[in-house]
Amino acid sequence: MPVIAIIGAHWGDEGKGKIVDLLAEQADMVMRFSGGDNAGHTVVNQQGEFALHLVPSGIFSPKATSVIGNGVVVNPRVLLDELGALKQRGVDVSRFFISDRAHLVMPYHILLDGLEEDARGGKAIGTTRKGIGPAFADKASRLGLRTSDLLDKDVFRERLHAVLTGKNTLLTKVYNADPLSEDEIFSEYCRYGEILAPHICDTSALLEKAVDDGKKIMLEGAQGALLDPDFGTYPYATSSSPLAGGGCLGVGLGPTRIDDVLGIFKAYCTRVGGGPMPTELQDEIGGCIRELAHEYGTTTGRPRRCGWFDAVASRFSTRVNSYTQAIVTRLDVLDTMPALKICTAYELNGEKIDYFPASAVTLEKCQPIYEELPGWQTPISDIRDFAQLPLQARQYLSRLEELIACPISVISVGMRREQTIFKSPVW
Ligand code: GDP
Ligand code: IMO
Ligand code: MG
Repeated sequence: MPVIAIIGAHWGDEGKGKIVDLLAEQADMVMRFSGGDNAGHTVVNQQGEFALHLVPSGIFSPKATSVIGNGVVVNPRVLLDELGALKQRGVDVSRFFISDRAHLVMPYHILLDGLEEDARGGKAIGTTRKGIGPAFADKASRLGLRTSDLLDKDVFRERLHAVLTGKNTLLTKVYNADPLSEDEIFSEYCRYGEILAPHICDTSALLEKAVDDGKKIMLEGAQGALLDPDFGTYPYATSSSPLAGGGCLGVGLGPTRIDDVLGIFKAYCTRVGGGPMPTELQDEIGGCIRELAHEYGTTTGRPRRCGWFDAVASRFSTRVNSYTQAIVTRLDVLDTMPALKICTAYELNGEKIDYFPASAVTLEKCQPIYEELPGWQTPISDIRDFAQLPLQARQYLSRLEELIACPISVISVGMRREQTIFKSPVW
C-alpha cells in the first residue's frame, strides 16, 4: 500500500517515532503533518538514540525524502538546532524540505503560551509552552507568518510590523510584560530564512508527484487522537488535528489517496499535562509503570500519568480515524504484571456507559469498569515471532483487537527497531 498515515491513538507518546523510523527503511517519503516542536519522537537505531521534535522520524532512512508539511508550525530556531545536531552525529539531512505554507512559531507565541498558562492557574492545560496554541490561533485569525514570507524580506517586514504592533499591545497592556523588538525579530528570522530557503518549497506538489509515481509514502502524525481539538478532551487538547483527516489537510492530499491508516496504541495508557484520564493509576502500579517504562516526557521531561488500557477511548479513536491496522507498542512494559486490567466501560452517575463523552467535565466523573486478564510474567523483548509470545500476551492482544475493532498488524516489544513482531506486513 503506497500511502500510509501513522496516527497516535491515545494522548500522544505511543511510540510513533519508533514505528516511523522502522517503516521508513522501506519508504520513499516521510512527511510530518501536524503539531510543532511540542512533539517529541524518540528513535533508537544503529545511529544512536534521538529525540526529534520537528524533523520527521524518517530522516535516518537511506533513501526517503523527509518533509515538513504545511500543517506543522515551525520554530525555525528549533529546526535549525535539530538539523545541526543531526548533521553533527553523521545523519544525512540533504533530502529535507519544508512547505512554503507552513506557519512560523514566533517569539511572541512562546511568550504568550507561558503567560496564558500562568493566567489559567489551577485550570492550566499543561501545554508544552512551545508557543503551539498561539501559533495555530494566529493561523486561524489570519495573523500568521509563513515560511514563504521569509523568502521576501520586504513582505516579511511589513507582515511582522502589522502583527507585532498588536502583540506588543497585548503583552504590555494585558500581561504587563515587556514589548518585543521588531528589529531583533526581523534580523533573527531573516537569518533563519536565508539558511532555510533552499529547503522551502511547495511540498504538496512534491507529494503529488511521489504518489503518482507509486512511491511509498508515510504521513507522520504528532500528538494523539485524544488531544484533537474537535474529538479530544477539549479544552485539554492541542491546537492542530492529529487525526487521519488532519493528515490530509496537513500535507495537501485528498483522503482518497491514503491507502492505510495505522493507529499506534500503547499497551496501556499515558497522558502528560492536565485533563481527564479515566484509567489513571495514582497508586504504586501507576508509579511502577512510570519507572519501569521511564514514562517521562520527551519534550518537557514531565512525568507522564500512567494507567490501564482504556478501550472506550481507544474504540472512539478508531471511530474518528477509521484505522485499517493497529500497532501495539510497549507490550514488554507489562512483562512483570501478575494481572492486567482493561477498561471496557465507564460508570457515570451510577449508570454504565460505553461511549467517550464530549465534555471533559463529564469524562472527569467517569469511573472505569475493568475486565481483568492474567499477566504473562516473563520477558518478551527478544521474541520476534507472534506464535512465540506467551499465551497470556496473545490473549491480551486478542482482547484489545476485539475491543478497539481493528486488526493488530505489528507489536512492539522494545525501543529498538528490531524489537518488533510483524503479525502481517505493513507495506
Ligand atoms: P512518540 O511521541 O509517539 O514518538 O513517543 P515518544 O518517543 O515520546 O515515547 C515513546 C517511548 O517509548 C520512547 O522512549 C521510545 O523509545 C519507547 N518505546 C517505543 N516502543 C517501545 C516498546 O515497544 N517498548 C519499550 N520498552 N519502549 C518503547
Ligand atoms: P507527541 O508527538 C504528548 C499535550 C501537552 C498538553 C496538551 C497541549 O510526542 O506524541 P500544546 O503544547 O500542544 O499546546 O499542549 O497537549 N501534548 C502532548 N502530549 N505527546 C505529544 O506529542 C504532545 N504534544 C502536546 O502535554 O497536555
Ligand atoms: Mg512523544
